[in-house]
This record gives sequence, C-alpha cells and structure tokens, in this order.
Amino acid sequence: MSDLNAPTDAPARKNAPALEAFWMPFTANRQFKAAPRMFVAADGMHYTTDDGRQVLDGTAGLWCCNAGHGRRGIASAVERQLATMDFAPTFQMGHPIAFEFAERLAEIAPGPRGKKLDRVFFTGSGSESVDTALKIALAYQRAVGQGTRTRLIGRERGYHGVGFGGISVGGIVSNRRAFPTLPGADHLRHTHDPAKNAFTKGQPEHGAELADDLERLVALHGAETIAACIVEPVAGSTGVLVPPKGYLERLRAICDAHGILLIFDEVISGFGRLGAPFAADFFGVTPDLVCTAKGLTNGTIPMGAVFAGRHVHDALMDGPDGIELFHGYTYSGHPVACAAGLATLDIYRDEGLLTRAAELADDWASAMHDLRGRNRVIDIRTIGLIAGIELEPRPGAPGKRAYDVFVDCFARGLLIRVTGDIVALSPPLILEHGQIDEIARVLGDAIDRVA
Ligand SMILES: Cc1ncc(COP(=O)(O)O)c(C=O)c1O
Repeated sequence: MSDLNAPTDAPARKNAPALEAFWMPFTANRQFKAAPRMFVAADGMHYTTDDGRQVLDGTAGLWCCNAGHGRRGIASAVERQLATMDFAPTFQMGHPIAFEFAERLAEIAPGPRGKKLDRVFFTGSGSESVDTALKIALAYQRAVGQGTRTRLIGRERGYHGVGFGGISVGGIVSNRRAFPTLPGADHLRHTHDPAKNAFTKGQPEHGAELADDLERLVALHGAETIAACIVEPVAGSTGVLVPPKGYLERLRAICDAHGILLIFDEVISGFGRLGAPFAADFFGVTPDLVCTAKGLTNGTIPMGAVFAGRHVHDALMDGPDGIELFHGYTYSGHPVACAAGLATLDIYRDEGLLTRAAELADDWASAMHDLRGRNRVIDIRTIGLIAGIELEPRPGAPGKRAYDVFVDCFARGLLIRVTGDIVALSPPLILEHGQIDEIARVLGDAIDRVA
C-alpha cells in the first residue's frame, strides 16, 4: 500500500457524473449518494478509485472476477466476436460459438467422469440460472409422470438471487418481505451452529443430521408433492456457511430415497472458488442440476449456465417431437458472452486457476484465523479461498459494526464485502501470498479501529 491510500477529506474527483438517475441495486441509495465510492478502472488484483487510489480486491468484484481484472485475452475475444457477429437468436436458430462453449463447459462439468452434468442451458445471470433450474426440475418431474411434484424446497439463510423462484426458495426474509412467493415452497433449517462449530477451518464437525430436516418436510408434505431441493453447497451471501461434514452426502441420499431432484446453486462456488472446478467435485457429491454464473465469464459479460445431468435432460428429450422445454432468454447463448466465456476457460486452464485455491487454502485459512482474538470477532469460517469473519453486533444497531469496517477498509485500500455483521472475503484466484497478508493486516487494523 502506498501513501496514495491515505484517506482524503476532499478527493479530486474529475468528471463526476450526476447521481440521481441510477437507482442502485441492493444499495442504501441516499447514503451512497451522500458519500459515493467510485471505481474507475481495474487491473489484476486492484481497482482504481476516482480519486486515484489503488484498492486491493478482496471480493473478486462480487464473487465473479476469479481470474482477476483487465484480462486482455477476454477483451480481445469479445472485441473479435462483436466485430464478427454481435448477436444472433438461439430460438430455433443457432450459432457455432454457443455450441462450442457448451462443449467446452461439458468437458469440465461438475460430477465424476462418466456421470458429469454435461448438458448446458445458458441464461443471463445467477438469478436466471436458479429460476431455470427450478423450472427444469418441475418439467422433469412432469415428464417422468410425477406431475404432482410441484413443491420446491430451499433452506433458511439461502440466497438464490432475486427472481420469484429464487426468493421463494431463498431463506433471506428481507428479500421477500415486500413480495409474494411461489405457493408450496418450504425450507430446511440452516446449518449454522456457532455454539458447536465456531472458528472451524474447512467443514465443521457437527451438523450432518440437519440434513434429516428434509425427511421432516417429506413426512409433512408427502414426497409425491416435492420436485426438488436447492441449496448452496457453501452459502455465501448470508455470511459464509460451510456444510458440516457428511451433510451434503446425507441430503443426496434422502433426495434419492424420495425421488427428489437435488440442485446445487454454485453461482459463487463454481469455477475454482474452493480449489476444484465446482463444489460438487470438491465435496464429492453430485447433484442433478447445478446453477452457475459470475465466474463463467470472469464477470465480464453477464451470463449464467445450468448444468443438467443426462437423466434430467434425456427425460425431456423423450417426449413428443417439438419444443421440449418452453423456456429460454433472448440472451441465452449470447455470442459475445460465449466468446468471453471461452477466453475465460482458456485462462483458467492455462493458469491452473480452477485448482489454485487448493494451493492457497492453508495459508489463507491461517492468515484469516490469526484474526481470532481481535476485539469483537466472534467467529471465523474458511474454506477454499473464502472467509467469513463474524463480528459481535452493536446493541440496537445490527450490521453497523461490519459496515464501519467496510468503510474503513475501503479508505485504506481494501475492498471487502459485508452482510449483516459478517465480513465475507473471496479474492480473485490469482491472489499472491503477500496479498493474503495484506488483506489480513488491513482488515485486522480496521476491526481494531472500529471496535
Ligand atoms: C448463490 C447465489 N445464487 C444466485 C445469485 C444471483 O446471481 P445474480 O445476481 O447474477 O442474479 C447469487 C448472487 O450473488 C448467489 O450468490
């Protein structure tokens, strides 16, 4: 960190835009517009602010820039594709690059050899991937003569984006307080148990039995009403909740026993975050459908993809000749996004990024767990290149302590993300060892100052 990162009272913002028109997502708009924080450039592990400071990216943007920023290979692939063919529909028409990208994804698809989920449905975002996977699950059940299965099961503290399907199975109350949800959605208990599992590196020891909650819902509603169960293998947006040892295996077994499809939402855990291409590979548990987005194109061009097992895909291909799945988006398989995705896969392959988190995980966990004992730190959870550092909430002001840490880190050259009073870290996978120490140092100092 250079002197450039010392906080300034009156930053020299050139060409500052008017702020009124952009209604910002998931943002306290009035607070932000009173004291804006702006990035104007990005390269490698760093952002540049509008007052010229370098900020180390501790969050890969929003869990998406796994190969870091400013990758020339992606930029030139996008430029080439734009010049060759900017857009073409994929409804009853095709273009080669969408098929090529799907084939490349099929090669690294989640699941063991011979059982890979190698049928790929393209979407435009994580939320669209979730709604697509839920709809595929419903269509599958109907196709195999199980049309009574219309219920979708999510989990408390799950985040599955902001579509009506996603908020229905999601377990974040504030995301749906103002909105109606799908009938019949229900939720497993969450797996977070700080009394037993605080300060765990990797998977917690306690809590596999929480998967039995699915048996409770089967007993309550009847298996014949349940189409699918969706979980994030590692929950990110609600503060890094790592699955207890044996939990995902047990969930898989219960789904199998009752004909329920298992969906992993890997929008953040996909593409190397844990040290394997997908969390399904890392944990050795194969679901029936996997939702992805974000790292799919290194965050450069909006795109998502749902990976489906052949049994799911083929069940729909066995029906009457004609459109098998009445679903799709204008931008499904967008050629420019496919170009960005192919170039991203090249980088992941050439730089070994899909497994790099495994090499860094021990150092990462040690540096993060060294923050134990700092004032008001009540839990630290790490896995792969993810960390959750939970702070004690201020009385009567939940979330305020972590928000202050976030603002302090930003002023001192580190981008972190906070959710409630939990700091969530997920740096680009190109992270160097020295930067692990820098993240720990800046964050630790901020926690001390704010506490
Ligand atoms: C697990 C998970 N699912 C879905 C989404 C939604 O993705 P998007 O914001 O691209 O719609 C997110 C976003 O963070 C996510 O973390």
